Amino acid sequence: MSQLHFEPRVVSGMRPTGRLHLGNLHGALVNWVKLQADARYRSFFFVADWHALTTGYPDPSGVRQNEFEMVVDWLAAGLDPDKCVIFAQSRVPATAELFLLLGMITPNPWLERVPTFKEQQQEMADRELNTYGFLGYPLLQTADILLYKGTHVPVGHDQLAHLELSREVVRRFNHLYGAVFPEPAPLLTEVPRVWGTDGRKMSKSYDNSILMGEPESSTRSKIMAATTDPARKRRSDPGEPSNCGIYYLHKLYSPPERLAEVEAGCRSAGIGCVDCKKLLLERLLPAQAQLEANRADVLRRPEVVDEVLAAGSQKTAELAAVTMAEVNRAMKLREPGRA
Ligand code: TRP
Ligand code: SF4
Repeated sequence: MSQLHFEPRVVSGMRPTGRLHLGNLHGALVNWVKLQADARYRSFFFVADWHALTTGYPDPSGVRQNEFEMVVDWLAAGLDPDKCVIFAQSRVPATAELFLLLGMITPNPWLERVPTFKEQQQEMADRELNTYGFLGYPLLQTADILLYKGTHVPVGHDQLAHLELSREVVRRFNHLYGAVFPEPAPLLTEVPRVWGTDGRKMSKSYDNSILMGEPESSTRSKIMAATTDPARKRRSDPGEPSNCGIYYLHKLYSPPERLAEVEAGCRSAGIGCVDCKKLLLERLLPAQAQLEANRADVLRRPEVVDEVLAAGSQKTAELAAVTMAEVNRAMKLREPGRA
């Protein structure tokens, strides 16, 4: 179906995980900040707080605090409520209405075959995840996108299957009731690799993260203690930068000449890992200090987080009402003009 009739809109969310780390920053947030300034789209970014419950339902007590910490980091990174809409999923209850209606038309096998469903169930075998909410994760995500008629969704490769499900659901809806929704397309940007201090992917659950705006002393000690290419046991052993998390950080923080120097020096054992880390810190520490200052600015008026979410949620609620009127009309549930 042609996408021409729909205003280009970017929609993306993040589960509230508390303070963000450099992996979140470079993996998603930097891209969001670019998108908000991209005149081709209107952008919507939200806290996926209901999604946090799909696995975290046994103890939801941290959700609000995690949302607060995460939005502080969004603002510190430069996300700007004057350039994009920032809101929280649960503050737009129409999300649940659309989720319910989409649940009526979506065959369970479509949801069961989304690869992350079985994978995550196995990963979190200690938790009861044979729940309707967990199965419906990608359908709730579909409702998030469709409620604002999102046309573009910035996602990593790991989320592509979810988006494919969304597209299938849109086709089914439009086929049954008329062309209401655009098929959301993935906006695949190259996601840079960010490794944690132990050489695995940076992740909160691995306890290997460097936080956004982490103070100088702890950023420094984490970097100095971080794993490098295991081939470099001694200072005289040559290494391979692509086997080293420090190198991937250089790629993000150091200028091209410096990067070339590091690559050559690593491969020839011309520089040691300690030197290499110090070169990284020359660039990383000022960037961290800037983020720390930005966070402090936001935290000077912490009520700004609630104000931003309230204003954004109000804006989206208005759009959502328009979409839901159209949905109810298309499904012959409510006639135009009736409450
Ligand atoms: N599943 C996404 C994540 O884990 C969060 C999310 C929820 C989302 N709804 C979305 C992302 C809609 C993009 C569009 O980070
Ligand atoms: Fe990593 Fe740098 Fe050491 Fe090479 S020299 S292994 S890139 S820290």
